[in-house]
Amino acid sequence: MKIKNDLILIKVLLLLSLWGGGVAVAQPVELVVNASAPGSVVQPDLWGIFFEDINFGADGGLYAELVKNRSFDFTNTPLMGWSPYGLVEVRKDGGPFDRNPNYVRLTGKRELLTGTGLINEGFRGIGIVEDESYRFSFYARTSENTPQRIQAELVDSKNNSAGRIVIEVSGKEWKKYQGEIVGRGTDTHCRLNVRLLSYGVTDLEHISLFPAKTWKGRENGLRSDIAQVLSDLKPKVFRFPGGCIVEGNDLATRYQWKNSVGAVENRPVNENRWNYEFSYKFFPDYFQSYGLGFYEYFLLAEDIGAEPLPVISVGFSCQFQRGREEVVPLNELQPYIDDALDLIDFANGPVTGKWGKLRAEMGHPAPFNLKYLAIGNEQWGPLYHTYLEAFMKQIRQKYPNIQIVGSSGPYSGGEEFERLWPQMKALKVDLVDEHYYATPEWFLNNARRYDNYDRNGPKVFAGEYAAHSVPIKKNSFEAAIAEAAFLTGIERNVDVVYLATYAPLLAHVDAWQWNPNLIWFDNLNIVRTPNYYVQQLYAHNSGTHNLPITRNGQIVAGDDRLYASAVIDTQKREIILKLVNTSPRARNINIRIDPLARGMNIKSEVKATFMSGELHRENTLQEPLAIVPQEEILKMGENNTLTVNVRWQSFNVYKINY
Ligand code: AHR
Repeated sequence: MKIKNDLILIKVLLLLSLWGGGVAVAQPVELVVNASAPGSVVQPDLWGIFFEDINFGADGGLYAELVKNRSFDFTNTPLMGWSPYGLVEVRKDGGPFDRNPNYVRLTGKRELLTGTGLINEGFRGIGIVEDESYRFSFYARTSENTPQRIQAELVDSKNNSAGRIVIEVSGKEWKKYQGEIVGRGTDTHCRLNVRLLSYGVTDLEHISLFPAKTWKGRENGLRSDIAQVLSDLKPKVFRFPGGCIVEGNDLATRYQWKNSVGAVENRPVNENRWNYEFSYKFFPDYFQSYGLGFYEYFLLAEDIGAEPLPVISVGFSCQFQRGREEVVPLNELQPYIDDALDLIDFANGPVTGKWGKLRAEMGHPAPFNLKYLAIGNEQWGPLYHTYLEAFMKQIRQKYPNIQIVGSSGPYSGGEEFERLWPQMKALKVDLVDEHYYATPEWFLNNARRYDNYDRNGPKVFAGEYAAHSVPIKKNSFEAAIAEAAFLTGIERNVDVVYLATYAPLLAHVDAWQWNPNLIWFDNLNIVRTPNYYVQQLYAHNSGTHNLPITRNGQIVAGDDRLYASAVIDTQKREIILKLVNTSPRARNINIRIDPLARGMNIKSEVKATFMSGELHRENTLQEPLAIVPQEEILKMGENNTLTVNVRWQSFNVYKINY
């Protein structure tokens, strides 16, 4: 009987030790942080963001314009997004903007019972907030001698009026008209009904609706809540505008930055690379208005304190569309190289030059101080290095201080990756852009990825990465904690990895092509994912140098399902530890700071921030705060040792002042 009871007790203890309910029975883990000699410098631009107009990230997302296809220039579908009624005709003779030639002619007739007008559906609806103001504008002319009346009315999802305005139009010349609509209710799915109230002929073009409150109050502005969430990350580098959209579905639809600057009405719309992705999500209404163009990207980078890192076409259309990609002949590459040189001029050149002058005319005479430029996105194959070399030769000659980013293809390893890296080394690019979308397991297994990288070659830009959970890809805590574990490896190797940006950044809940993404939104609300908070904790706690953190003299990179890294901020006098426990049980851990640097006096209060939870949990519009960082204050123990009971499945940041 005694033996049986003992066996039951042993089983219970065993179960308790395996279960993650906060009971820790194992011996404490001993970690040591050597604070006596700061290690490698953490590059000040290390943690950043990568923006692409995918998932309605720009048009329908960050760019605050609420009208889809405002200029009637979507290729082959000029009325995409609009439901016309009565007598509405699309014309292109004598419009006010030569690069967006289409406009609509509205004819009002007494006998038309429907009246004449057109309704815009917005980007899966228009988000309107009660008592907020909206700036409605358009260009118009009329052949009538008497003023014509245009009514713009917001209609909510229950078909009630959500605000309206009437504006009189007169004269045969094109003029801009503008007025304010005040929201009469809050609804994420309104529509905009633009109606001709008079009998006669009136032409309309560039029909636009913006919230009055945009980011920094700019007229051609950004959605302030989304821009704020980006700013809250405190990113230090900002890669844009893609991604595959840089390459385009074909060369004609590649991102051409010159089309994205100057008067917003005359930036020619371009088909979005993601218009046809994926076959099960057919979005034939995905165009780029370029309202959020390179000038706005540079401004945003400046606003949020990040270094701009534009990516430009190397002369290949998207290689992912295997068999359909287009490559410009080498002897026709010069215009592409000119685009790169002119871009540097636009960003940094004197206002007396062509491109610097345009920058000044747009409102920014001071240079944007561009220092990075990526040539090509995820390029590979036998031609890439030859094309890149042609760019580099001219850029190095004219702008020797620009740091050039080359590609290592779309995968984290494999034949192309192995071929590309030596080519990038031979070309002496400054940074190599690596992309990896892989399972959480891959991220955990790759925490040591950079430990043995060549210290003398180009530096790494982890330009696109995200853990993709299986079988369903989502922004679960499982993905976030795997990324947190992997990033300890980046902190340990800051002498190799100079920049890192998660991807993709934004996704509209009703119009996404890609999953997972860092931030989700609908037409009025935002969800920060657990992955967002992981990025934020790294970016806010970057330190100035890394420090060795070891267990029995070895790095902490997955043994016993623990991962750890440490940095010091020599200016703020902080030691910051990151600790990831991926096991389903809590752990007692002693972290000893030893030896101390000369004059270092460790303060007793330690700020701990942690994220913990079930692996399948995610933040949603309905439950946006399911997994968020929480804070507590701990006390340093004797011998500069911090004793912590690290929660099961948790990411922990400890800030120790000295
Ligand atoms: O981030 C989504 C896509 O993934 C990017 O456009 C491309 O570079 C990569 O394949």
